[in-house]
Amino acid sequence: MASSRPDPEPESVFPREVRLFTDSYSESSRFCFCGHELSITQNFGSRLGVAARVWDAALSLCHFFESQNVDFRGKTVIELGAGTGIVGILAALQGGDVTITDLPLALEQIQDNVHANVPSGGRVKVCALSWGIDQHGFPGNYDLVLGADIVYLEPTFPLLLGTLQHLCGPHGTIYLASKMREEHGTESFFQHFLPQHFQLELAQRDEDANVNIYRARHREVRPAGHHPFC
Ligand SMILES: C[S@@+](CC[C@H](N)C(=O)[O-])C[C@H]1O[C@@H](n2cnc3c(N)ncnc32)[C@H](O)[C@@H]1O
Repeated sequence: MASSRPDPEPESVFPREVRLFTDSYSESSRFCFCGHELSITQNFGSRLGVAARVWDAALSLCHFFESQNVDFRGKTVIELGAGTGIVGILAALQGGDVTITDLPLALEQIQDNVHANVPSGGRVKVCALSWGIDQHGFPGNYDLVLGADIVYLEPTFPLLLGTLQHLCGPHGTIYLASKMREEHGTESFFQHFLPQHFQLELAQRDEDANVNIYRARHREVRPAGHHPFC
């Protein structure tokens, strides 16, 4: 026999939490570094994948720059695999002339975060750079090359190494912050790949987050004007 009870109101059937029914949503978070309050929007969902969020390594790197008083003023800076762009944005607010890069899918998110945080006139641009493919469209003499949580895909290690070799100027410095995931071979990049061309030091380890911050510089720095056959 059919029930005579009225149909329930749609709201009692479908929770008000709309995120349960969307495959993507945005979340804005605030972070404070070096006296700047940053508002960073993360667009979660299948489209952006790992580029969507701010990872621990990015926060560790920002903390490191703050605690070490790293000077960005007047320096040319490039960030690789920027995701939300938080690291490059901080570098720009601290006076760097910054290029923030990632795969094309992440550029809109980065650009929006740049607009929300860097006053017009700030020296920052956002560009596509796929490791091992696009680096020759960029200068080869950056003062600072930055990357947070970009060492996690073993097939990309040689590509990333080639990109770092090209971008880092002879007197430049690379800062890489990495979650040290055994299953992703992260340690082997720092033990076997980077040392082939760079002098490497562990600048900081965050035990709780399992994040290492490495500082790297080219192994051979030739004095200006020196030619190997002279
Ligand atoms: C784990 S996320 C880290 C994002 C951000 N740096 C952070 O720490 O919050 C890795 C980033 O590397 C980028 N990426 C992965 N493979 C890449 C490639 N071959 N070339 C350029 N970027 C790449 C992804 O798009 C993503 O933004």
